[in-house]
Amino acid sequence: MTNPPICNYEGSDYQKSFWEQGGRAYEDRAEAIALKRMLPKFGKLMLELGAGAGRNTPRYAGFERIVVLDYSTTQLAQAQERLGRSDKYIYVAADVYRLPFLDGLFDSATMIRVLHHMADAPRALAQVRNVLQPGAVFILEFANKLNFKAMMRYLIGKQKWSPFTLEPVEFVELNFDFHPKAVRQWLAGLGFSIEKTLTVSHFRLGLLKRLIPAGLLAALDGLFQPTGALWQFTPSVFVKAKMGGENKQREIPLEVLDLFKCPECGGEDLQDKTDHLLCPSCQSRWAAHDGIYDFRETMK
Ligand SMILES: C[S@@+](CC[C@H](N)C(=O)[O-])C[C@H]1O[C@@H](n2cnc3c(N)ncnc32)[C@H](O)[C@@H]1O
Repeated sequence: MTNPPICNYEGSDYQKSFWEQGGRAYEDRAEAIALKRMLPKFGKLMLELGAGAGRNTPRYAGFERIVVLDYSTTQLAQAQERLGRSDKYIYVAADVYRLPFLDGLFDSATMIRVLHHMADAPRALAQVRNVLQPGAVFILEFANKLNFKAMMRYLIGKQKWSPFTLEPVEFVELNFDFHPKAVRQWLAGLGFSIEKTLTVSHFRLGLLKRLIPAGLLAALDGLFQPTGALWQFTPSVFVKAKMGGENKQREIPLEVLDLFKCPECGGEDLQDKTDHLLCPSCQSRWAAHDGIYDFRETMK
């Protein structure tokens, strides 16, 4: 089965242009508040899916080890610059639709600002489910099609698509907004139970962001975030989901090599060949370069 297309950030200056120079200090701080409310204080092995340049990674400091995963190696290189290379961070280039990890491995995962690039969101979420332990915490952020602005635009006839229907809307190629109910249904179908919902970025308005300091606006956002338990009309929604009990649970291996499975054949005994990992079952070779395990394509 072929995988859905990937929104490729290779060579992108996303971190700089969108976050650092893009006037998004308010959104960044509001997300930090939401994450703090949802993250377990401690944990052993966290999987950060679509980590980009590692903007959020320092917020997971309570975890012993963090797998920083992204499809783009240039994003991962930026994450390395920010976080450094140490035993705490394991940098992995891979496709969310084809994760190279043993089933039932992680005690926590986050996926922030990534689902909106998924043309087949349920399939991506199923991959995440497979690699989580029973009881693991999964923090998912998604772009909400049922946001206030979209509803207003639809009701006055300025927008063709309905924010009220359950199917995702692709507003720009490979950029999707989702209905909160659809996301809840997908998660429930995969065996997750939702423990908390926070609405984030209530005040994403140019005028307010210009007039009110980012820290103050984010603090106000923080006051409103718990209303997400009742209704969700913000552009961004955070969900804390807990993995049900049926999945496999693994001892978390000490050796990095033992976290992986071959994404081609599922073989679990990859061998370290210094500049690559070899799968003895299907002979696939996966590059290991510049501190990054690269599971996107087999080596030629
Ligand atoms: C909008 S950025 C968000 C980065 C980071 N989570 C943040 O909030 O700052 C989306 C990231 O998802 C990654 N991505 C998109 N599709 C992916 C896929 N199929 N597999 C792995 N990463 C993917 C991109 O490379 C990009 O770094």
